[in-house]
Amino acid sequence: MTEHVLRPVRDPAEARFEESLRPRKLAEYIGQDKVTANLQVFIAAALARAETLDHVLLFGPPGLGKTTLAHIIGNEMGVPVQVTSGPVLERAGDLAAILTNLQPQSVLFVDEIHRMAPAVAEILYPALEDFSLDLVVGMGPAARTMRLPLPPFTLVGATTRAGLLPAPLRDRFGIVHRLDLYDAESLSTIVRRSAGILAAPITADGAGEIARRSRGTPRIANRLLRRVRDFAHARGEPTITLDTARYGLERLEVDAFGLDELDRRMLTAIIEHYGGGPVGLKALAATLGEDEGTLEDLYEPFLLQAGFLQRTPRGRTATARARQHLGYPAAGGEQQGLFGSDGP
Ligand code: ADE
Repeated sequence: MTEHVLRPVRDPAEARFEESLRPRKLAEYIGQDKVTANLQVFIAAALARAETLDHVLLFGPPGLGKTTLAHIIGNEMGVPVQVTSGPVLERAGDLAAILTNLQPQSVLFVDEIHRMAPAVAEILYPALEDFSLDLVVGMGPAARTMRLPLPPFTLVGATTRAGLLPAPLRDRFGIVHRLDLYDAESLSTIVRRSAGILAAPITADGAGEIARRSRGTPRIANRLLRRVRDFAHARGEPTITLDTARYGLERLEVDAFGLDELDRRMLTAIIEHYGGGPVGLKALAATLGEDEGTLEDLYEPFLLQAGFLQRTPRGRTATARARQHLGYPAAGGEQQGLFGSDGP
């Protein structure tokens, strides 16, 4: 149960719910203050000059609002938003069809842009650079390239892995922003805003409790809110209080700090197999049988932010807070693991 409710990835069953809570304007967007302040400036300038907004790259862990921001950019610019994703664009022709059908000035949102096939990325370069499409017509020695003009557009690319984008693609974005995990205060404000939209009254400490266990991720906070609202309903409580939130989150088996199973395995492995660290990410990933990129992009940011993990030049170490939370004695004490005697 825990693994599902705490997973930051999009759940198709929640699409309508997510959509209903999505802020439509920059002014309604909570958190990521530097990103929204900068976007406000660039959008206002583009509008004042009646120009197309520069291409925007948004990167960071899932569930933080990259799709939401793409729609907000479209709204603020007063233009339509066409949505697609890297893995959906299998052939160059798939992208060419979209590009040639865009209304002038549109936003084209490409989610998971790092998963776009190289042959597709290839036709994107001239499209981004000077709004043109290079088509190869004919075959063999008779083959020629025809240049087709495209309507001007703004590409908003989203990725969890900016490091995986080919440099020529990355370089074509004029505006690049990283989204960070949200602090508990912003998340708490988001939970209260969402509760307002859902007509589910909630106390400040009830919202705070949900925020604290949401891994810095609005998508998880909104999901937990919805489930806790069900528990409040079942208990006949008109308002979600701290007690309701704690009860619901306990029933959902959500850890007091929002740690999921892989977070716990990661910290446990550092403590039990590597004496608390430091351990290199590669070795840790091999021990856990997990992908190094998954650990680095999806797990580390939260564990670092929440103070369970530290990055040192020699590798990762588990903090005193991690030991305490997982029930290990303080470092330097007896090395008795939770899972028997396979420790160092
Ligand atoms: N819902 C999800 N993310 C949000 C955000 N950043 N601001 C307001 N509401 C949200």
